[in-house]
Amino acid sequence: MPSTNAAMVTQKTRRILVTSALPYANGPLHLGHLLEQVQTDIWVRFQKSRGHDCVYVCADDAHGTAIMLTAEKLGISAQEQIDRIKQDHEKDSAGFLIGFDNFHTTHSDETRYWSETIYARLKANGHIAEREITQAFDPEKNLFLADRFIKGSCPRCKTPDQYGDNCEACGATYSPTELIDPVSALSGAKPIEKASTHFFFKLPEFEGLLRQWLDSGSLQSQVANKLREWLDGGLQEWDISRDAPYFGFEIPGEPGKFFYVWLDAPIGYIGSFQNYCDRTGHPFDDYWQPGHDTELYHFIGKDIVNFHGLFWPAMLDSAGLRTPSGIFVHGFLTVNGTKMSKSRGTFINAATYLEHLDAEYLRYYFAAKLNASVDDIDLNLEDFTQRVNSDVVGKVVNIASRCAGFLRKGFDNTLAAECAEPELVQAFLDAGEGIAALYDSREFNKAIRDIIALADRANQYIDEKKPWVLAKEAGREQEVHAACSVGINLFRILMTYLKPVLPAMAEKSEAFLQCSLDWHALNGPLLAHSIAPFKPLLTRVDSDKVAAMLEASKASAVDGAGAAATTTQAPPGNNDTNAADGAAQHSDRTITFEDFAKVDLRVACIVAADHVEGADKLLQLTLSLGDDQPTRQVFAGIKAAYDPDELVGRYTVMVANLAPRKMRFGISQGMVLAAGPGGEDIYLLQPDSGAQPGMQVK
Ligand code: 2FM
Ligand code: ZN
Repeated sequence: MPSTNAAMVTQKTRRILVTSALPYANGPLHLGHLLEQVQTDIWVRFQKSRGHDCVYVCADDAHGTAIMLTAEKLGISAQEQIDRIKQDHEKDSAGFLIGFDNFHTTHSDETRYWSETIYARLKANGHIAEREITQAFDPEKNLFLADRFIKGSCPRCKTPDQYGDNCEACGATYSPTELIDPVSALSGAKPIEKASTHFFFKLPEFEGLLRQWLDSGSLQSQVANKLREWLDGGLQEWDISRDAPYFGFEIPGEPGKFFYVWLDAPIGYIGSFQNYCDRTGHPFDDYWQPGHDTELYHFIGKDIVNFHGLFWPAMLDSAGLRTPSGIFVHGFLTVNGTKMSKSRGTFINAATYLEHLDAEYLRYYFAAKLNASVDDIDLNLEDFTQRVNSDVVGKVVNIASRCAGFLRKGFDNTLAAECAEPELVQAFLDAGEGIAALYDSREFNKAIRDIIALADRANQYIDEKKPWVLAKEAGREQEVHAACSVGINLFRILMTYLKPVLPAMAEKSEAFLQCSLDWHALNGPLLAHSIAPFKPLLTRVDSDKVAAMLEASKASAVDGAGAAATTTQAPPGNNDTNAADGAAQHSDRTITFEDFAKVDLRVACIVAADHVEGADKLLQLTLSLGDDQPTRQVFAGIKAAYDPDELVGRYTVMVANLAPRKMRFGISQGMVLAAGPGGEDIYLLQPDSGAQPGMQVK
């Protein structure tokens, strides 16, 4: 049989540097982080398996106010905090078989060197501005306060305890200066206004470069379009400094001024790669100086495209460094159809998952769902169980397990000397180029679809040959040998294609098949080849363990473990803003019975629920108070907790006599009642069965 991979052998070896987003050193990894790391890792393993020179680096994102405050709360130094977290992150990623070539930290000599160097170049090129700005300041903590660290009553609906940038209750957006009775969320003190000098990167000067970059094909079209909208709206200078106290790098020559965490975070990619090159002798300059034939890709979530798609290429260009070949943006992870929620147990930390389930289940499930778009990926736990059991255990492993026994019993674990089905084997080999193209373009779901279709074909072949029937008939041993040898050869090809997704199962398969499963070395069938005794490659997903994992996630949310977790799924700038867990504000909210009697509460049926274009928190609900009543439109800040489809048909309780309010997105004609602090922890009230739309709630 001719070797099918002649094209592969002659193909040029690509030199590729790949990164995934640097997780904040402020909390454990959760499955949202793992979606990205698994996506990146599969792509990198695929490139390596094809014989390319591909290096995958990452690091912890170790700077910022939030990390400083977490360390303070724990009574440890920031250094100790980031060291602890780095160990945890490395352990969790290793548990998911993420094969980083280097995992470093941004709090490193390399990242300091490159931050200072890049800043000095931006400054020398006239791309740094300096001016005084006034910001809210906590006089007790002696700290400038980002908007999310300020709380007060909403200037519009007067709901107390709202953050400084928007109201969870009515969805209004505003600036912290508009809050009624603002206080610092860190100390409870009343913030004062204070001026200080900040440094700005002159992003508007890069508009031409950025327009070219957006047209260059380096970004998915959805992402490029979004970034073009921002450009059309006018670029602003970017504030890249923060005042002491701040955990980060002090700006050279500017005592008390530090680089903003988002300046040095992407520079951490360079720092980690520098560290790798110093360790291994890899040629650093080939990857960061312009004009080389190397490729550079960043895998990121859709919440941080502005940093990677605008600030980063502009900074690199000004500093005389190369810009990325591509930014690969993925969507968010939802679990069972909604955002991950601590109270529902669906905010799943990586370590909790690993305590209950095999990493490869999730790697396979993510691969089966991931594609090159920025659409969100849903981890539906029933589908997860069913899909992994059916595809991996029921189809792929099954091929090997049904053939191996006959080869052991009758043929001393040796494959036949001739291939009985050269065309079938060739068809499996020929499918490789198409599958490779799908991996390369990050259409993993389609690659998996094609691989599983081949697995179906292999099982069908074995079903047709029925070695278990032949084995009982005298004189048909050779047919058994032939069929099972073909089956094992088909399994070998499939496992080679699946190796980027299932590296541990591939390793066990290599031990079983006594050969390596590298794609670039894949050629004709194994003939007269000895294999090892078959051992189980992957056990079925046990739904009790899935349930136990959810329970454990719920419990750890209640314990507060992982409460400091930041998320790659949070809005940009999160690292400076996510520690706002301080003093809840209480005000005297007693009302008279007469006041209460004025409130007309009614049972309402949600007849439609929709997303609101441009609103982060709101859903638009259409409520019925009975067939004879006009429907009401209400905007409710429950988007983080509910999928609109799950709400339709549901009964809830509404304030029916609230004066209509004009909101940014339209008129709201009432309010629905929900319990909880807000965000994803918000629960719509629901009347007992029997209550009908329009009934008064007393
Ligand atoms: O959003 C986040 O979780 C950031 N820590 C990602 C940083 S990516 C890169 F720029 F470093
Ligand atoms: Zn409000």
